Amino acid sequence: MSSTVVTGIGELVTCDGTGADGLGVQAGAAVVVEDGLVAWLGPQAAAPAADRRLDVGGRAVLPGFVDSHAHLVFAGDRGDEFAARMAGTPYDGGGIGVSVAATRAATDDELRALLAGRVAEMRAQGTTTVEVKSGYGLTVEDEVRALRIARELTTETTFLGAHVVPAEYAADRAAYVDLVTGPMLEAVTPYARWVDVFCEPHSAHAFTADEARAVLTAGRAAGLGLRVHGNQLGPGPGVQLAVELGAASVDHCTFLSAADVDALADAAGTTVATLLPGVEFSTRSPYPDAAALLRAGVGIALATDCNPGTCYSSSMPFVIALAVREMGLTPGQAVYAATAGSARSLRRDDIGRLAVGARADLTVLDAPSHVHLSYRAGVPIARTLELEA
Ligand code: NIG
Ligand code: FE
Repeated sequence: MSSTVVTGIGELVTCDGTGADGLGVQAGAAVVVEDGLVAWLGPQAAAPAADRRLDVGGRAVLPGFVDSHAHLVFAGDRGDEFAARMAGTPYDGGGIGVSVAATRAATDDELRALLAGRVAEMRAQGTTTVEVKSGYGLTVEDEVRALRIARELTTETTFLGAHVVPAEYAADRAAYVDLVTGPMLEAVTPYARWVDVFCEPHSAHAFTADEARAVLTAGRAAGLGLRVHGNQLGPGPGVQLAVELGAASVDHCTFLSAADVDALADAAGTTVATLLPGVEFSTRSPYPDAAALLRAGVGIALATDCNPGTCYSSSMPFVIALAVREMGLTPGQAVYAATAGSARSLRRDDIGRLAVGARADLTVLDAPSHVHLSYRAGVPIARTLELEA
């Protein structure tokens, strides 16, 4: 068992829920790490001895970002679709089929390498936990394969067989829902923690409220936690369904009615609204008002949604900067939502905050304060702090 004391921290952001924006900022603090966990934190002058000392030279240290929504197991490229969208073609989910075809055609090792590259890209920008969804296989074998490969890199794996109805089932949607809720669910369950569904009446490819309910209740019966893609392309039933079923998270929340906001506020202890501003950026959609959600008492998280269609960015700092500039959050509120908030959406309390016993997932900024994450948008100031000698 070896220990490291991290010293010279300009600003320690603990995200322990105290102080301004819940950031629990400590000045002049040190952190002692033992076996990957926080063993002690407090004033540097009082820090206990450790085997090693790592001085970060006045930089800010915060919990590693928790990217609670990402689709990283895919092959192929949809840059042309993005370019067409910037020229005015709206997003309708139809491009998902392009990624499904490319993903099915890839070998296991190709997918493994693509996933590993994307996770490494995230780590290099300060993300220490990532949730990874399936959803570009859409056959029993291809969904199992995606989740098996994802499981090699994260415990936060999500079965998204109900991403779209694949082309071969277009004439018989009910048969596809039966597959997803039956044999496919049974085969993926050993590799998945969560089940998710793209519930979206504004896309012919996605799932209705009734179909989504069938997927979620079957997933729950199989022991999986619930997540929902909802209210992305227009007003819809996703938020209400997520709240009704006690989902851990409903993601996108781009188009919310007053009743949706009320339902999310009432469910704040259970269901988190995960906001994905990189998607609004990459689809030219309106940004939801995150500040209004906080005022209403809604629990919010921030994540990238990194995927080949609606947001091919793996950058949590980019998401934080967008949330501040476009969604009305303070720099501190955005940092909290990207750490403690997104940990909550994964029902985790060992990540997203720094406290004795929590995982010592530390991110360091080439800057004196967390404000610089949004102040210096686009500048690569965040990276994970590697403690191994
Ligand atoms: O979260 N909306 C559904 N799924 C993804 C996009 C997937 C894709 O276009 O490849 C999302 O936006
Ligand atoms: Fe998504």
